[in-house]
Amino acid sequence: MKKNKVVLVGCGAVGTSFLYAAINQGLASEYVLIDVFPDAAEGNAIDLADTMAVLPTTFTSIKAGTYADCSDAEVVVVTAGRPQKPGETRIEMVSDNAKIMKEIAIQIKDSGFNGISIIASNPVDVLTTIYQEVTGFNEHKVIGSGTTLDSARLRRLLAEKLEVAPTDVDAYLIGEHGDSSVPVWSKTTVMGKAVKDYLDEEKISQADLDKIWKDAVNMAYVIIEKKRATFYGIGVCLARLMSAVLRNERQIFMIGAKLNDQYNHKGFYTGVPALISANGWEYILEWNLSTNEQAGFDKSSSVLKDVVEQARKAIA
Ligand code: LAC
Repeated sequence: MKKNKVVLVGCGAVGTSFLYAAINQGLASEYVLIDVFPDAAEGNAIDLADTMAVLPTTFTSIKAGTYADCSDAEVVVVTAGRPQKPGETRIEMVSDNAKIMKEIAIQIKDSGFNGISIIASNPVDVLTTIYQEVTGFNEHKVIGSGTTLDSARLRRLLAEKLEVAPTDVDAYLIGEHGDSSVPVWSKTTVMGKAVKDYLDEEKISQADLDKIWKDAVNMAYVIIEKKRATFYGIGVCLARLMSAVLRNERQIFMIGAKLNDQYNHKGFYTGVPALISANGWEYILEWNLSTNEQAGFDKSSSVLKDVVEQARKAIA
């Protein structure tokens, strides 16, 4: 019988922002918090429990727990890892966070967990790959946050430029959650109107699009420079992905999925459109990318493959 039980590993700003979003949306019944610092798990559990008598769609329990609590959970969300420093790329965190991810993966595996894992720890495409390799879990049951947030940023920036609502814009970044992500302008529309038509009508220029892309890619650095960390955007993205799993939504998101020859690459997780259901990610949607888009994706894939090798060496 579904318990609607969710375990969070990593009670820092990202993890607790995810949890706060999930609780406010009434997504689960039971929440368990795990952190290497017990007070972080216990303090946040108590703080969030204070919402139970107030929220209209409340939950039955929230507690600090252990990896044994994963055994009967539907979803485990992993956000643990050291935070990105100002000016540091996500890839530069790989050695430190790969070792942390290996330890977490082993303990989740040993708990007998058989549900869906959602990974957000950075560099997320690489750490999702490491997590899936260390646990040996079916790759479809391991979801990376991928370019969900990157694409949300691109949508918002393009919407601002065109003076429409972000929810009316379908725009996508594919590839690494990070500096080498690639805009898929050939599939970008505003309520079905192709962005190419906006270019032809001179309502927007290629220079505008290039700036929007760069601003989306650099958004995290700007936020980190101002407030030391990003967490609300990714927190809501994680809650959205978990909602799709728990409610078996069969919706397509720009998540981290493991390639197996899709887009001409295989063997690692990266940001691609994939359908999410209660079974995890069921399949990767294959677009016909333009020549430039495929070239950009090839470059991004090359970066990720190199960093996955670095991570494998770091945990060997
Ligand atoms: C960001 C973090 C989640 O892009 O990598 O905000």
